[in-house]
Amino acid sequence: MHDSLADFIQELPKAELHLHIEGTFEPELMFAIAKRNGIPLDFASAEELKTAYRFNNLQEFLDIYYLGAKVLIQEEDFYDLTIAYLKTCVDQNVVHTEIFFDPQTHTDRGIAFETVIRGIRRALEDGEQLHGITSRLILCFLRHLSEEAAFQTLEEALPYKAWITGVGLDSSEKGHPPSKFERVFKKAGEEGFLLMAHAGEEGPSSYIREALDLLHVTRIDHGNRCLDDEELVQELVRRQIPLTLCPLSNLELKVISRLADHPVKRMLDKGLMATLHSDDPAYFGGYINENYLRTAEAVGLTRHDLGQLAIHSFQASFLPVREKEIWIDRVKTYCASS
Ligand code: ADE
Ligand code: ZN
Repeated sequence: MHDSLADFIQELPKAELHLHIEGTFEPELMFAIAKRNGIPLDFASAEELKTAYRFNNLQEFLDIYYLGAKVLIQEEDFYDLTIAYLKTCVDQNVVHTEIFFDPQTHTDRGIAFETVIRGIRRALEDGEQLHGITSRLILCFLRHLSEEAAFQTLEEALPYKAWITGVGLDSSEKGHPPSKFERVFKKAGEEGFLLMAHAGEEGPSSYIREALDLLHVTRIDHGNRCLDDEELVQELVRRQIPLTLCPLSNLELKVISRLADHPVKRMLDKGLMATLHSDDPAYFGGYINENYLRTAEAVGLTRHDLGQLAIHSFQASFLPVREKEIWIDRVKTYCASS
């Protein structure tokens, strides 16, 4: 029996499905890598940098997030970033992780696509070998950039197709609807990539509708705003389309004003395939366990709800069916004994 909710969450096996690797860049590692690459940062110390982590919206966060990523130059830097994140997976009992990376953030600065993906890939291989953590890699197109730039990024990715499971869409949502990327998603689908998109984080529910109907995604990242459209909710329920929710991100980016307002409980009650994740944990005050715990305390999630969210995380993952079943059985057994 786990007396505290924190202990219960700690031991619960979980899959992480919404995590930007650049968003795991902890200030201490950022300073260490900046130093070895001889790149000046605008802040005197990791502590000073952290005081700048106050955001009124998504764009204010993205401005500082892209700034931090500029110190990543060598393959080794991408390796160190990823292996540091995988250590937190071990600490938090995340047994499977599906990681977003933003190649354009790096290729636009003259870093080769190959440098980025080789560093990340090598860490993922080590993570599986050393810690048994399984993973998938998902390439995100930056939606504030052009369709043409997304096509070029897709071309650059093709030689590494075996290492990339899917493509997604992230960055500034408002004013950059999914329809802008309809053709590039069509091509990505034809190339065999699985499809997902950030939608309905700050943007309207119509962006979720577009992501489903025009991009043909099988997973929605965030999706909070679906609750504005009951017909859309019914379709998401009927098709069991996963919504990868990120409560601490929503709080820090003012998508919600209080954690108690987070819709996860309402979504579960409606039968939606909601899951909980950490988005950019180095910037938002916590990794997956902090997201589970603080949200549970704020909105009153029971242990049964938390077990259901962990089961959803495996159901919504891109693991083979047999592996999903094994993890879901383990979650069920764990919950029955806790
Ligand atoms: N890139 C990193 N985090 C993001 C978020 N929460 N929304 C959109 N793009 C992002
Ligand atoms: Zn995200």
